[in-house]
Amino acid sequence: MRITRIATETPVKEQLEADLNLLDDLFAKYRGKPGSLIPLLQGTQHTFGYIPQKAFKRISMETGIETADIYGVATFYAQFRLNPVGKNVIKVCHGTACHVQNANAITDAIKDELGVKDGETTSDGFYTLESVACLGCCSLAPVMMIGDDTFGKLTGKAAVRIVREIRNTRCNQKEE
Ligand code: FES
Repeated sequence: MRITRIATETPVKEQLEADLNLLDDLFAKYRGKPGSLIPLLQGTQHTFGYIPQKAFKRISMETGIETADIYGVATFYAQFRLNPVGKNVIKVCHGTACHVQNANAITDAIKDELGVKDGETTSDGFYTLESVACLGCCSLAPVMMIGDDTFGKLTGKAAVRIVREIRNTRCNQKEE
């Protein structure tokens, strides 16, 4: 069951070499402000899709916080990514409602289909598979999101069908 359909393709700035100059405005905004570490990490991730290694050093220089401490914060919170993601992130909900409706079957089916583990990206960079906490539409459990699209009442088979369909559609769009 598809409940939204917004045709978008996630920009993949993360595929490019991280240009830290893109963070200048972000650092200017938070310079000298206490408690700026989380917004700086969030802004960095928003810019690149993940937090590149070399951004840690720059954030350390800007804030005076040790790189190891920044790394500790970034790895503590699930919202932060330390690796680039694919063009399309598949988020399979493993919150309570989805878990009892067999969300594991969905993740397993997609893992088999794509040949990746949870958290990994396909070799062509098209998909990243992630298990996440509640996506906020528990009545549709089990649920997954791909980009901005939400799919509910899934089975493993249905999830794989959607994953194939999106890849075919978006690949064909490029060829037109
Ligand atoms: S538990 Fe999956 S959407 Fe809430």
